[in-house]
Amino acid sequence: MSQAQRWGEVDDYVAERLIGRDADLDAALAGSAEAGLPPIAVSAPQGKLLQLLARGIGARRILEVGTLGGYSTIWLARALPDGGRMVTLELADQHARVARANLKRAGVGDRVEVRVGPALDTMAALVEEKAEANAEPFDLVFIDADKENIPAYFDLAVKLSRPGALIITDNVVRDGAVADAAAVDPRVLGVRAFHEMLASRPDVEATTIQTVGSKGYDGFNLAVVNG
Ligand code: SAH
Ligand code: DHB
Ligand code: MG
Repeated sequence: MSQAQRWGEVDDYVAERLIGRDADLDAALAGSAEAGLPPIAVSAPQGKLLQLLARGIGARRILEVGTLGGYSTIWLARALPDGGRMVTLELADQHARVARANLKRAGVGDRVEVRVGPALDTMAALVEEKAEANAEPFDLVFIDADKENIPAYFDLAVKLSRPGALIITDNVVRDGAVADAAAVDPRVLGVRAFHEMLASRPDVEATTIQTVGSKGYDGFNLAVVNG
């Protein structure tokens, strides 16, 4: 058995025991595949991790950058208490349409707003709304869009967050390439610049955790905005 197969089997083992099947999450993945979206949503154990973290900090306002078909969105939205709200940002109109259908089917369409456009623009608009309309800051941000812009998304995420907020960033290890000083892939350069930026910022405290599983070898960064 290859290592990757074993990682997948452990994800299945964990999912069978600790997660179980959920018709709406299954339908979100099936609907995404049917519409031709790439199979790059978080895994079920990762989705549940996001949900547990959101629940653990009592998140009432969640921001996601990179919706795809809304699979991670459903996991996170289900952690919201009554009256909680989520905003998720997506570049591709087609992805947003698939996501809205998946979110509605899962019963979270009312508490999630899908905004379409380049996330640099939609996040800048959210920063303006926060300043002008005194909109509430976010308690949790999940960054999972294009990797080149991770440093910029993180900077905007801090501006949109309350002190103590948790910012989670996906795909920051990339098969270990993050530690390759000779990297030229712009996505790897993005996650490397992200770590340099974190190292130089006194306003956040962060760590990166490597992960293996059905999505291969990658990792999450977890950062808390200092008070
Ligand atoms: N969070 C999702 C997966 C997101 S995949 C899940 O786990 O279920 C990354 C998504 O980011 C894709 O849908 C892609 O279209 C979107 N994306 C890429 N570049 C973007 C940009 N500049 N602004 C907003 N979204 C972008
Ligand atoms: C890709 C994007 C992701 O967010 C992910 O988790 C895995 C792969 C990609 O663009 O290939
Ligand atoms: Mg990802």
